[in-house]
Amino acid sequence: MNSLDDFIAGIPKAELHIHIEGTLEPELMIALGIRNGVSLSFPDAEAARKAYNFSDLQSFLDIYYRATALLLTEEDFYDLTIAYLKKAASQNIRHAEIFFDPQSHTSRGIGFETVIRGIERAFVEANSSLGISTKLIMCILRHLSEQEGMEIFDKALPWKQWISGIGLDSSERGNPPEKFRKLFERAHREGFFTVAHAGEEGSATSVREALDTLHVSRIDHGVHCMEDERLVEELVEKQIPLTVCPLSNVKLRVFKSMKEHNLKTMLHRGVAVTINSDDPAYFGGYINENYIEAAKALQLDRSDIIKLAQNSFIASSLSTVHKQLYLNEIERYTSQQIT
Ligand code: HPA
Ligand code: ZN
Repeated sequence: MNSLDDFIAGIPKAELHIHIEGTLEPELMIALGIRNGVSLSFPDAEAARKAYNFSDLQSFLDIYYRATALLLTEEDFYDLTIAYLKKAASQNIRHAEIFFDPQSHTSRGIGFETVIRGIERAFVEANSSLGISTKLIMCILRHLSEQEGMEIFDKALPWKQWISGIGLDSSERGNPPEKFRKLFERAHREGFFTVAHAGEEGSATSVREALDTLHVSRIDHGVHCMEDERLVEELVEKQIPLTVCPLSNVKLRVFKSMKEHNLKTMLHRGVAVTINSDDPAYFGGYINENYIEAAKALQLDRSDIIKLAQNSFIASSLSTVHKQLYLNEIERYTSQQIT
């Protein structure tokens, strides 16, 4: 029988919570700095990695937004995206739903079209050469106003054929879902799939509000849902998915250690949890490392891993037929394993 780590590495899976700007590895950061003639706050990749010690979400976001300032051209966004998709394919990710934060680029004078053309070019290439399917989710920065969110929404509409969903990210504290009620109403009217970060640093109330006020189909993080038993019952009954990011939660001190993470408790309670990497260039691992670290600390077994991988496709925004094709891949994979 192969090891659990090998089993995890090989199982087909989807990634549903990944910020493309959070895949900017220090090596590419350095290369972009040289190519674009922008001076960096870090002399080399090693120095950058050493500086990635975060005390909470905000301390991470401060560094993350500073690093995004290196992304200037369509080529930069293409390079960033294709590097992630190659890594994803190498870890047997079969489908990825990828966030981007256009406001962090347009605010620096970068055209919306520069960003989206670079990302889309990488998607098209990866769909054919790597056989991985992709969807793009535009995140609204919640530390900015709803009006500013509306303005980026206006800019996005001409590119609607390349955008599947609308999400909500950045600083949760002091920026409740309610602040973006009208924007999400508009997203629904335009037919977008919708998601929101909630219950990462915020409480169960934030998750409740994202569901009842924004009517999102999926919650990003959501780990604080366990504070509210009635909410948990509803999440289980309606099978509303949570995109959990174990390494991120430990790095940003949502949990003191991986052993204290509530992923297994939620999974065994019947919540539709999935494992994702969030910002892998900053948190010490891509999807397989997230599965492996969680499995080790929480003593997950093969049936847990299979359930998590199945959940990842079921929780995606793919069509029922497309989901079933991927679920069949898991079935074939597990039946081929020597036990
Ligand atoms: N939370 C909120 N906003 C973010 C995150 C996150 O984990 N990563 C990138 N933007
Ligand atoms: Zn996130």
